[in-house]
Amino acid sequence: MQRRTLAASLLLTLAAWSLPVAAQQQIVIKFSHVVARNTPKGEAAERFAQLAAAKTGGRVKVEVYPNSQLYKDKEEMEALQLGAVQMLAPSLAKFGPLGVKEFEVFDLPYIFDGYDALHRVTNGPIGKDLLKRLEPKGIIGLAYWDNGFKDFSANKPLKTPADFKGLKMRIQSSKVLDSEMRALGANPQVMAFSEVYQALQTGVVDGTENPPSNFYTQKMHEVQKYMTQTGHGYLGYAVIVNKKFWDGLPADVRAQLEDAMAQATRYADAVAQKENADALEAVKKSGKTQVLALSPAEKTELKKVLLKVHKEQESRVGAELIKAIYKETGFNPANP
Ligand code: LMR
Repeated sequence: MQRRTLAASLLLTLAAWSLPVAAQQQIVIKFSHVVARNTPKGEAAERFAQLAAAKTGGRVKVEVYPNSQLYKDKEEMEALQLGAVQMLAPSLAKFGPLGVKEFEVFDLPYIFDGYDALHRVTNGPIGKDLLKRLEPKGIIGLAYWDNGFKDFSANKPLKTPADFKGLKMRIQSSKVLDSEMRALGANPQVMAFSEVYQALQTGVVDGTENPPSNFYTQKMHEVQKYMTQTGHGYLGYAVIVNKKFWDGLPADVRAQLEDAMAQATRYADAVAQKENADALEAVKKSGKTQVLALSPAEKTELKKVLLKVHKEQESRVGAELIKAIYKETGFNPANP
């Protein structure tokens, strides 16, 4: 009897040894985010999951939870720090509550004249230095992922600053965005992304700002009559991971995941422009939201009002940081 038990346990041990590594000790990464799957961030997260599985031979399983299904904006940051999820990609406008307010520099209106200027910052020393600032918070910044440039929307045409007067406009948690809306005479309201559709539908807020991809995939075109192609500000993400979790990974796995992330990042940046162009077309085709363009004079007027936010927010994000970005991109606020 005793001998049989010993033989059985020996067999079990041998069976366990012969199992693939993946089945023995699979590492699970919960990756939570707030947008739809068919968005730049949603697609890139899925691509990262595929690459992580392939590069680690199935040892790492990335479970992607889209659309605030697991956590809303504020909760997901807390969940990451507590280790309830391992990976997120919050918008750069959402790091203020964490105490890293310098990321709000990306929210300054018209600071990036397109993706190329933006990438000079995110792919260079400024971008790296900003990610480093997350470490004391128990977070490692792995990459920047693009979304796109934001447009304003409301149930009335928004073409001049006067059109914004008194409107309740939903914003992300950034103080720079608060200042942007105030510069236009609007009343900014911070709200989780998952609540925006309903807030627009019920009139809790009158309007908002988003790249076309977020606008369309959250069905905001059903509840906003006008969108103005202002492209006045950038929306992008930092992919972040719980530091304790990341540091605790076997070195070979970490290297494979870094490789997967580098590839997913190239993919994210490549799909972002297409997703936004397609979404804009879909909004137009829906016939529900009228898409407006600014005349050169209107654009100049809007820019003039919004550029004041750069000076105003120096104390929030750092005058030196703003100057360094101007230098990197060649932006001249006196001659924008
Ligand atoms: C928003 O809250 O408007 C965006 O940050 C959502 C997102 O993650 O793209």
